Amino acid sequence: MPDEGWAGVDRYLGEEFVPSDPVLDAALRESSAAGLPSIQVSPLQGRLLQVLAEAVRARRILEIGTLGGYSTICLARGLAADGRLLSLELSPHHAEVARRNLARAGLDDRVEIRVGPALDSLARLGAAGEEPFDLVFIDADKTSYPQYLDWSLRLTSAGSLIVADNVVRQGGVADPGTRDPSNVGIRAFLHRLANEPRVNATVIQTVGSKGHDGFALGVVLSGPTPSDGPSRVNPA
Ligand code: SAH
Ligand code: DHB
Ligand code: MG
Repeated sequence: MPDEGWAGVDRYLGEEFVPSDPVLDAALRESSAAGLPSIQVSPLQGRLLQVLAEAVRARRILEIGTLGGYSTICLARGLAADGRLLSLELSPHHAEVARRNLARAGLDDRVEIRVGPALDSLARLGAAGEEPFDLVFIDADKTSYPQYLDWSLRLTSAGSLIVADNVVRQGGVADPGTRDPSNVGIRAFLHRLANEPRVNATVIQTVGSKGHDGFALGVVLSGPTPSDGPSRVNPA
């Protein structure tokens, strides 16, 4: 086998597992044409998101950071038959592109994109006392990951899965003296996740077309406690 390194293996695996996907291809084409950065999850990572959603039989999915809706499509494909996905996005332009991509994918009836700073949208969700989410995918600004973890804990219940992208960042997170704000944010997130008694979590490093990165994966062991605030998202 020719030694093409990680990218070559990623291509090979992608051709095996995600050989032809006109919906995702179109989403990438349209996102690129609209000037969005090409920082979506890889095809194999997208499939992982779908697999995880299916594994927890997700009826309610929360995504933080939509971009052009690539990961949104993958997650929504993993929804249970009557499931719904809510995705939070800062940029109105990104949201508009994502809505078109989701409509083309035939998923617009199951997906809502809410525009604004995710922390604002999350605070409103918390106040609304909604049903808990079965899966949360964190993939927006890395500096806010610790707060996104707090909200994820408030908005989930026992058995829910919390997934976060970009927790390795070409290895930059392993430098304890890092001053890169994104790495600092991820390190704080990982430290809290690792020490959070309500979650059993791990990190899986990834290599491939996006270089060296990783996903944090955590299963929620128990729901929020009353001290988490007045919004009762966990009836159990
Ligand atoms: N999940 C996408 C990629 C998301 S890229 C995929 O894999 O297909 C990160 C996204 O987070 C960008 O679209 C960016 O505009 C958005 N973002 C950045 N800061 C944000 C914030 N404070 N609130 C909500 N979204 C934010
Ligand atoms: C960036 C953000 C992402 O979510 C990602 O997966 C890769 C890169 C970025 O902001 O550069
Ligand atoms: Mg990402």
